[in-house]
Amino acid sequence: MRKISLTGIKPTGDLHIGNYFGAIKPALELAKEYDARYFIADYHALNTMKDSKELSTTIRQVAAGWLACGLDPEKVIFYRQSSIPEVFELTTMLMSFTAKGLMNRAHAYKAAAAENNEKGEDTDSGINMGLFTYPILMAADIIIFDSDIVPVGKDQVQHIEMAQDIAQSVNANYGKQILKVPMAGVQEDSAVIPGLDGRKMSKSYNNVIPLFAPEKQLRKTIMRITTNSQTVEESKNPDESQIYQLYKLFTDSNEQAALALRYREGGMGWGEAKEELFRVVNRCLSPIREKYNEIMADIPSLDKILQQGAEKARPIAAATVNRFRKAVGIDL
Ligand code: TRP
Repeated sequence: MRKISLTGIKPTGDLHIGNYFGAIKPALELAKEYDARYFIADYHALNTMKDSKELSTTIRQVAAGWLACGLDPEKVIFYRQSSIPEVFELTTMLMSFTAKGLMNRAHAYKAAAAENNEKGEDTDSGINMGLFTYPILMAADIIIFDSDIVPVGKDQVQHIEMAQDIAQSVNANYGKQILKVPMAGVQEDSAVIPGLDGRKMSKSYNNVIPLFAPEKQLRKTIMRITTNSQTVEESKNPDESQIYQLYKLFTDSNEQAALALRYREGGMGWGEAKEELFRVVNRCLSPIREKYNEIMADIPSLDKILQQGAEKARPIAAATVNRFRKAVGIDL
């Protein structure tokens, strides 16, 4: 039997190529080796997103984004967290096995509390219980599908450790393995994708190349990449240019070698280097963008895909909850 991988997707809109190469592509590759499951963590998003229109739009945008990038809902299970009520039943059960002190130590809560203290406000001001108990819901997401491996960035490792802790306290209490203890698949420093200004591509730096922007806007964005003041004639070092770093993501070694040569020979200005980059980025993104637009133009079909995913997921979730209910003595 293949092992199970689970990827939780936070619904944040406007995916960019940093998300694509850093998270989406590696996560989709898991389907080759694992029984892969992917879900949109929409109840987690509710902790911070209180605008209903924004939340419902973002959920669909991110679902369409992953489908456009190649997630195949026939081969994997793809669903919304909110479609699996068993997740919330499991969350309640796990609460009884989770020390409050464990939640006090969660990074996100600690950071929010520390910020309040610094501002001289009440420690828990503005912190809702969803944020405080976030790691328990996340543990339920993971444990309910008997997940073996959960690929996450470094910032999420603590959450996986908490899921392990919680599952282990259940197993220790009943003296047998009732819940599977998951493992984190920490992505080793996958190449950092440089943004327009050379820093790591990130929405918070306002330096991203969006995945689904129309062609014109894509070109404009690429033309905004910052460069040094070298003249057209000067020889340029490709390895010191984020234009070339980005170019490498979209090309094979032949194309890379050919362009590196042109950088070194001199005679190619930054404007031309950006045009070359635009050409290869657009070549890769055009079909993805088209697919995305098609999906977003037919929301009922998109919703149906997610619904069908939930139908595949729910019996698996129900089996875990039933197993756990029996173990604790709530077995009617
Ligand atoms: N906390 C994750 C993030 O911020 C999202 C998430 C929620 C998740 N539940 C999960 C990830 C379960 C992996 C498994 O990105």
